[in-house]
Amino acid sequence: MPFTPNRYFKQHPLLLESAAGMYYTTSDGRQILDGIAGLWCCNAGHCHPRIVEAVREQVGRLDFAMSFNMGHRGVFSLANELIALVPDNLANVFFTNSGSEAVDTALKIALAYHRARGEPQRFRFIGRERGYHGVGFGGISVGGIVTNRKAFASAMLPGVDHLPHTHDPRRNAFSRGQPVYGAEFADALEGLVALHDASTIAAVIVEPVACSTGVLVPPKAYLDRLRAICDRHGILLIFDEVITAFGRTGAAFAAQTFGVRPDLITVAKGLTSGVIPMGAVLVDGRIYEACMSGAEQGIEFFHGYTYSGHPVATAAARAALAVYRDEGLFERAAALAPVFADAVHSLKGAPHVIDIRNTGLIAGIELEPRAGAATARTMDVFRHCFDNGVLVRTTGDTLALTPALTIEPAQIGQIVDALGKALRAVA
Ligand SMILES: Cc1ncc(COP(=O)(O)O)c(C=O)c1O
Repeated sequence: MPFTPNRYFKQHPLLLESAAGMYYTTSDGRQILDGIAGLWCCNAGHCHPRIVEAVREQVGRLDFAMSFNMGHRGVFSLANELIALVPDNLANVFFTNSGSEAVDTALKIALAYHRARGEPQRFRFIGRERGYHGVGFGGISVGGIVTNRKAFASAMLPGVDHLPHTHDPRRNAFSRGQPVYGAEFADALEGLVALHDASTIAAVIVEPVACSTGVLVPPKAYLDRLRAICDRHGILLIFDEVITAFGRTGAAFAAQTFGVRPDLITVAKGLTSGVIPMGAVLVDGRIYEACMSGAEQGIEFFHGYTYSGHPVATAAARAALAVYRDEGLFERAAALAPVFADAVHSLKGAPHVIDIRNTGLIAGIELEPRAGAATARTMDVFRHCFDNGVLVRTTGDTLALTPALTIEPAQIGQIVDALGKALRAVA
């Protein structure tokens, strides 16, 4: 099982049977309020009837369409609908099946772009400590979570380096929204440029909000500074928005929330509201044009997946985007964000809590690790909450909340109550 202690699971299986709106039903018939939108993905809530119907209709009409040398109308419409939501430099889309594939695709596009422009020596990628970019070899190379890297170190991409992470609890603990301190963490990029020379660096990749490592919200002006340094040195900036896109931060993309324009954005998860696997890379128009004009005749970009732009995933994504628009869910997330912030920050002072971080409908509640047993306390809280009808996520010693954008204030209260009880109950 993925990212699961298999032996523990076999002794203590947790099985879900069905879902609707904000709730799961377990195989033993219990209702569980979902505080994490499945796995940071079901932004429109579970089994949204419009998305379910779109999938049902599509699978009976065009089950599959090869995307090599041909296509289907839906996927071009979806590309246009996505482009209409993003900062206006992003003009092209490449479809994948997951966030990991989107990341590997974005890294390849960055290499292809520099090669097309006559700078093939730009081969290095700069990631960030504590970053999570999925589990492909590209993603784990630029990622910065040691447990995901150490066993595979021999097969990592060459030449990758990392920025420092931005977690600075000494100065920023219990920040509401963007922490005040830490823009200068971006300056480490100048140090890496001095070490490697800009002419060898293809791209920097960061999550605007680093979620899987425990919710690290970017310090004020940090992302702007990364952008400025990349611009100074001709380095592409990739935002991995697999979690943060589609309303999670209160706008379509975190790039808009934080007012910084990346050259590429990776998405997945909320693209279909989690209903069918699909990812995508949104690409600056000048990158696309360079790749088209720099290539020899024939195929310009030797990359693609059997299921790129799959018709059923496309139908799910188009329906999800329509639901986000028609139900005003990005605006709803923005309006709920202060209610959510008040609720999660009310846990300050609860046993074991050493920091609380939030932006939009994302929150991290960091606990003091139990001596000699890191992550054990958050797992106990997770289980206590589940037994009391609430699903939360653990990322190391941080509890993460990322509910669907459809959550009601009373449900936010229920999640925070369950967490408070669990924190008082666990050792
Ligand atoms: C920022 C980020 N990038 C990439 C991924 C990988 O996505 P997937 O699990 O769909 O491959 C994730 C998954 O959580 C993620 O959070």
